[in-house]
Amino acid sequence: MSDDALSNLLHEDRRFPPPADLAANANVTAETYAAADADFEGFWAEQAKRLSWGTEPTKTLDWSNAPFATWYEDGTLNAAYNCLDRHVEAGNGDKVAFHFVGEPGDTRDITYAELTKEVCQAANALTDLGVEAGDRVAIYLPMIPEAVVAMLACARIGAPHTVVFGGFSADALATRIKDCGVEVVITADGGYRRGSAAALKPAVDEALTECPDVNHVLVIKRTEQETAMTEGRDVWWHDAVGNASPEHTPQNFPAEQPLYIMYTSGSTGQPKGILHTTAGYLVGCAYTHWAAFDLKDDDVFWTAADIGWVTGHSYLVYGPLANGATSVMYEGTPDTPHKGRWWEIIEKYKVTILYCAPTAIRTFMKWGADIPAKFDLSSLRVLGSVGEPINPEAYVWYRTNIGGDKVPVVDTWWQTETGMHMISPMPGVTEGKPGAAMKAVPGVVVDVVNDEGKPVGNGHGGYLVVTKPWPAMLRTIWGDDQRFKDTYWSRFEGVYFAGDGAKKDEDGDIWVLGRVDDVMNVSGHRMSTTEIESALVSHERVAEAAVVGATDETTGQAIVAFVILRAGEGETADDAETIVQTLRNHVAKEISPIAKPRQIMVVEELPKTRSGKIMRRLLRDIAENRELGDVTTLQDSSVMNLIKDNLESSKED
Ligand code: WTA
Repeated sequence: MSDDALSNLLHEDRRFPPPADLAANANVTAETYAAADADFEGFWAEQAKRLSWGTEPTKTLDWSNAPFATWYEDGTLNAAYNCLDRHVEAGNGDKVAFHFVGEPGDTRDITYAELTKEVCQAANALTDLGVEAGDRVAIYLPMIPEAVVAMLACARIGAPHTVVFGGFSADALATRIKDCGVEVVITADGGYRRGSAAALKPAVDEALTECPDVNHVLVIKRTEQETAMTEGRDVWWHDAVGNASPEHTPQNFPAEQPLYIMYTSGSTGQPKGILHTTAGYLVGCAYTHWAAFDLKDDDVFWTAADIGWVTGHSYLVYGPLANGATSVMYEGTPDTPHKGRWWEIIEKYKVTILYCAPTAIRTFMKWGADIPAKFDLSSLRVLGSVGEPINPEAYVWYRTNIGGDKVPVVDTWWQTETGMHMISPMPGVTEGKPGAAMKAVPGVVVDVVNDEGKPVGNGHGGYLVVTKPWPAMLRTIWGDDQRFKDTYWSRFEGVYFAGDGAKKDEDGDIWVLGRVDDVMNVSGHRMSTTEIESALVSHERVAEAAVVGATDETTGQAIVAFVILRAGEGETADDAETIVQTLRNHVAKEISPIAKPRQIMVVEELPKTRSGKIMRRLLRDIAENRELGDVTTLQDSSVMNLIKDNLESSKED
């Protein structure tokens, strides 16, 4: 990345020091950083004490076969025991593990004792269906407590799970089932979304027409809708699990026992099965969940992400449960039955820590600050952000309107592949800067390098790399060691590269700029889509923006922006035209005239994946007028028509 990136940086002066009371009792202090720096392996050996082991490990890291790592290799343990039984044994059986909130309004508080019992029953039921240690089990469920039970039951018997997001199509499910050789699928009749019951089981039936190796399907009753069952293959969960014994002795497995496979998209069309193993992953999740959120015994923690994504795995299931925490789990969408649903839940359960994605925050901004203002959010003490760069405007809005202008925001950078937070402010130590992920978590070592792999100086941009192994790192891509090496370990010698660009500011703090493939090159100037989006969103009339680099004969790439205006804005064609001009000038002022978008399209919706990521590739195709790619993961395909129409009308002008 050239120095041009530097001249395009947004200027950000706001600083938010940690609240004094939080700093005074913080889990992570300056000494934590010092300890990790002084003795890397010793630090991680110490963190391993968070777990209960069958056999304590004597080794910490073996990197002799890089990039294939082992962590705590000679230790043995059971992941489910660590998340459940040990808390009950310690006298915390009555502590709530989950306050479950169903979309229709049903609620259920599940204690550690109850969760342990259900997981034991489910483990017995899976064993009765013939599942053995090492066998893969697919989980395709809505956000209901049984999803957690299913995951932990698999973990308890050493059978790696692969959770497939409930919004994926039958095709996507089939691809994943085949890729990792699943024989048992756990699903539900359906789930609730936006006020109605959506069927799930028919997608499994369709997927299984292509998957002859699947011999059993366990079906949970959630919606009670009519559900076809295939004789001899399909079994109701309430029969199989409900009638199973609640006694189950957890077996200890080797530290490197596969725990789960999570599919994620790569630069090619074929999804990658990211493999996580047991001990290192659990240590990493437990430690970072405790560190970044400053977790205390009486916290009520809420990860508002689907269990089908890595955030749900690490910070809804494994991290919080390994730490014996109380969490909220919510089945539905934020606007059902009304747009204050999240804030109502926070008020009711006195949630102390909220963890969500910037895209949700920007949606709430669009809906207006008067909605959260109607609720008592004073229980909150830490706010987290994950999944995409958080633009300074969203960060400040979040802190001000949700955090009462005093709650620290931790912007956590990590990936499906990293399994745990890698870069994040520590709420009791870090003076936060809106938009910056700041520094590596103590015990993690990252850098920003140039094309030659040399670290860049402060004030410069480049590629984000991780220079030392970490316990929760992916071990490989399922069935494809070569792709694992090629994808992550070959761009720069001996270090991990997962495709993000970043910059170090004058203080050496890290700003993640987004995927490198989202970095544009306009007339030889490198610019981040994120920075231009951020500039657009900093304008008072803009609610959300997506920027792509479209191929341009003259400039190489040209900047094309799609913006959603705040309610009431841009209602007439004239008004929209003025706004487009205003915004182009605004970007020129905020960043540089070279960052002025060639086109700005005012749209009503942006195409997003179910996990809330803007589908830039698709927008790029539209901007370049190419055929659309696969749109099956779109939340709403009519979005695309809208955007296309807008594009056409803007060209006619
Ligand atoms: C992006 C989600 C900026 C990044 C946990 C990464 C972020 C990809 C941040 C991984 C953040 C995630 N700031 N960008 N705080 N967190 N990303 O695998 O591009 O769904 O490579 O994991 O999301 O997405 P994934």
